[in-house]
Amino acid sequence: MGLRGPRRRSYLPVGLTLILLGLTAATATHAGTTGLSSAGVMASVGMTASAPTMGWNSWNSFGCGGLTETLVRETADAMVNGGLLAAGYDTLTLDDCWSAVSRDSSGNLTNDPVKFPSGMKAIGDYIHGRGLKYGIYASIGTATCTGGTAGSLDHEYMDVARFASWGVDYIKADRCNADGLIMKDIYARWRDAIVASGRSIVLSASDNNPTDEPWAWGPLTAGQWRISPDISDDWTSPPGQPPWKEGMIDIFDRNAAHAAATAPGTVNDPDMLEVGNGGMTDTEYRTHFGLWALMSAPLIAGNDVRSMSDATRAILTNPEVIAIDQDPLGFQANLAGDIGNGLQVWYKPLAGSGARAVGLLNRGSASATMTVSWNAIDLAPGIATVRDLWARADRGSFANQYSVSVSAHGMALLRVVGTDSPVSDGFLSDQPWTYMANEQGPVERNSSNGGGGAGDGGTLTLNGVPYLRGFGGHAPSALEFRPNGSCQTFTAEVGVDDEVGTLGSVLFQVWGDGQKLYEGGVMTGETPTENVNISIAGIRSLRLQIVSVDSTADDHADWANPRIACADRSPPNQPPQARFTTTRSLVAPWEIVAFDAESSTDPDGTIVSYMWDFGDGFTANGILVRHAYA
Ligand code: GLA
Repeated sequence: MGLRGPRRRSYLPVGLTLILLGLTAATATHAGTTGLSSAGVMASVGMTASAPTMGWNSWNSFGCGGLTETLVRETADAMVNGGLLAAGYDTLTLDDCWSAVSRDSSGNLTNDPVKFPSGMKAIGDYIHGRGLKYGIYASIGTATCTGGTAGSLDHEYMDVARFASWGVDYIKADRCNADGLIMKDIYARWRDAIVASGRSIVLSASDNNPTDEPWAWGPLTAGQWRISPDISDDWTSPPGQPPWKEGMIDIFDRNAAHAAATAPGTVNDPDMLEVGNGGMTDTEYRTHFGLWALMSAPLIAGNDVRSMSDATRAILTNPEVIAIDQDPLGFQANLAGDIGNGLQVWYKPLAGSGARAVGLLNRGSASATMTVSWNAIDLAPGIATVRDLWARADRGSFANQYSVSVSAHGMALLRVVGTDSPVSDGFLSDQPWTYMANEQGPVERNSSNGGGGAGDGGTLTLNGVPYLRGFGGHAPSALEFRPNGSCQTFTAEVGVDDEVGTLGSVLFQVWGDGQKLYEGGVMTGETPTENVNISIAGIRSLRLQIVSVDSTADDHADWANPRIACADRSPPNQPPQARFTTTRSLVAPWEIVAFDAESSTDPDGTIVSYMWDFGDGFTANGILVRHAYA
């Protein structure tokens, strides 16, 4: 006798399965092209990327004149004794004005003999002795920004080697007196000099001129890159502000336009914090800090940590807000909704099933009740829990949305945990994403990007081959999906879309749970289409990333036929569990045995039709079949 229910197509043919299992996350089809992890620059394929830098820098509070050896020692002590190191602030950086006007007789950068009489190795030893990392400032041009002391142009290898000999762990390479230089190339020199030094040093590309598009070349060059002029200690730029300074919220807006460039280990840097410096209210400083956390930005305190108020300390050390910043998925928040009157909802996905960080930002001048709907933050409808991260209190469970009153210039910062819209076997281009950021317009579904607003693309085309399905992106570009551990492989064909001819230059990456699973080579419009075929077994968060390589111009790049293979059910061809009804437990041949299809189950799927073979020459179709042997 046999029961035949319809089988849902599930497992791959055995031969194919073996091939896919042979490809682990760390052995994707292309090895990482950058291989720069030794400099703390980029995570190689299979390596876990570092979280955004946390530390302190002298500039915002002390400028040029206040930076001395005594200040550094006292600050190091205060960072340890005041709980900053314990909260994660582990890098103490000396900004401009530590060095002498001229290089020494050997041509090396050297210390200002009055401000740093013990020398730069000794101050590094003190910093290390307190369990902190040692950061130092340099200029990529002919002189530092104050104009007074030597720059590092054409001395990059020599200066980095010198820094390495002092035990430096972090270099802020500032764009000063450097007009006419090609920033991508100059900063690549610093990256390569760090690799050559043999020391693991984080490169902070402090390119304070956004016309250089640091977010285009930054990800392949540095751990972090500036995106703006210098921050000023104001909510917004006051009238008459010089062009090299901008208010906090203006820099936040500027950074939002390049959200897709931030990825684990390589992040946009909206400049150092002003929290505690006196130009904003505590409410505004909470908003400032919360926005930086939502952006996955470096958190570099810029106040006098030797004498901060309790309110400032509470802001800087709130562990739940810091956790939002340091989240391993490394997304930069996106605008989920602009309600008008300065009311905005920002969010980013967090590691953890259904987890989101949400900021309800009130830029207006009166308090307002604000609402976030689960739909706006790419959660499925239903119940989600809400935790207020400033109050550090659970607010409860809420259906489909949550509302709260937010004061003027305030931001409610929430952790919402609901249900991710799941993805299943098939083309991703037909399925819901949980995050989308893209340099030009949105990522388009089933058409190319076009380079403008929504819906302006054409047929996805790679090297003359048109594709019906896929994503048309414009680098930098980032998408997230949540297979939630139930899929095995991701495949796609990738390249620069034919609509830009031979132009464009991009690099494709696939990330799983904050770890880089795949990185292809640099591609232009002339590069043959690449096949991506990687294991995503066990991966809960799948990120599709397109990185710019030089400028963002013409970077129209496609994920064609992006597919995931999933087997989120029992293995196929399991025996069905059939139920029979009889009048007695032992039946005689002439007594009726009834097969009850509705109570029977098939582990491979739902039974919708069957044929029953009685084994005595009779077969029958139907829900209930009665039969007695002749
Ligand atoms: C530039 C940088 C600042 C600071 C000063 C120092 O303006 O952008 O962050 O380092 O130089 O001179």
